[in-house]
Amino acid sequence: MANHAPVGHEKIETSNFLMIVLVLLTVSVGGLVEIVPLFFQRSTTQPLENVQPYTPLQLAGRDIYIREGCVNCHSQMVRPFRSETLRYGSYSKAGEFVYDRPFLWGSKRTGPDLQRVGGKYSDEWHRIHLINPRDLVPESNMPAYAWLERATLDPSELAPKMRTLRRLGVPYSEEQIEKAGDEVRGRTELDAVVAYLQVLGTAVK
Ligand code: HEC
Repeated sequence: MANHAPVGHEKIETSNFLMIVLVLLTVSVGGLVEIVPLFFQRSTTQPLENVQPYTPLQLAGRDIYIREGCVNCHSQMVRPFRSETLRYGSYSKAGEFVYDRPFLWGSKRTGPDLQRVGGKYSDEWHRIHLINPRDLVPESNMPAYAWLERATLDPSELAPKMRTLRRLGVPYSEEQIEKAGDEVRGRTELDAVVAYLQVLGTAVK
C-alpha cells in the first residue's frame, strides 16, 4: 500500500465506516428509484377493466383459503411462458391483484396454479373435491377439508373486514358493507371457499 495519507477514493476504500455507510446509501437510493414508481404507476395501481372487489362471500372464502394454507401448495400467478399459458390460460397482470390484500401469488406448486381456476369446474365439483379430493382425482395428495361443510360463517366478521379493506383503497360502499352480514348468514365455509375459487381469474377470460 502507498506510503501516504489516503486521498480521494482511497479514503473510502480504507475506512470500514465510510464504506458501509456509503454502500447502504447507494443501495437504498437505487432501490427506492426502482420500487417507489411502482406505487404510482397506472398499470400496477388500477384494476383491469372487469376486476371487481370481492363480494362478502368471496372475501370470507379468501380468508379461509389463507387460514387453511392453500397458498402453501397453490400459486396464483401464471408466468408469461408458453408452457404456463398453454396449461393455465392467459398470464397474470398487475391490474388483477389491486384488491388482493395480502396477495396470494405463492411460490410453491405442489398442486396446480389456481389463478385461472374460476369457471373451470362446477361448484359441485369443488364441493366434492374439497371434502375429499380422492373422490375425483384418485392419485391426489391434497388434504381433505371436510369440516368446511359443517362450519357456518360468522356474519358479524364481514363489515369490519370490509371497512379495513376500504381504508386500504378497495371501493366498498357503505351500503355494501351494511348488507354484507346478511349475504353470508347461514352459509358454510365450504360455500365461501367455492365462491372464492369460482371468481379467480374470471376477469381476464
Ligand atoms: C399439500 C398440498 C395441497 C394443499 C395444502 C392444498 N392443495 Fe389443492 N391440490 C393439490 C394437488 C396435488 C392438486 C392436484 C390433484 C387434485 O386435483 O386433487 C390440487 C388440486 C386442487 C384444485 C384443482 C385445480 C385444477 O385446476 O384442477 C383446486 C381447486 C384446489 N386444489 C384447491 C385447494 C384449496 C381451496 C385448498 C385449501 C383449502 C387446497 N387446494 C390445498 C395440493 C394441495
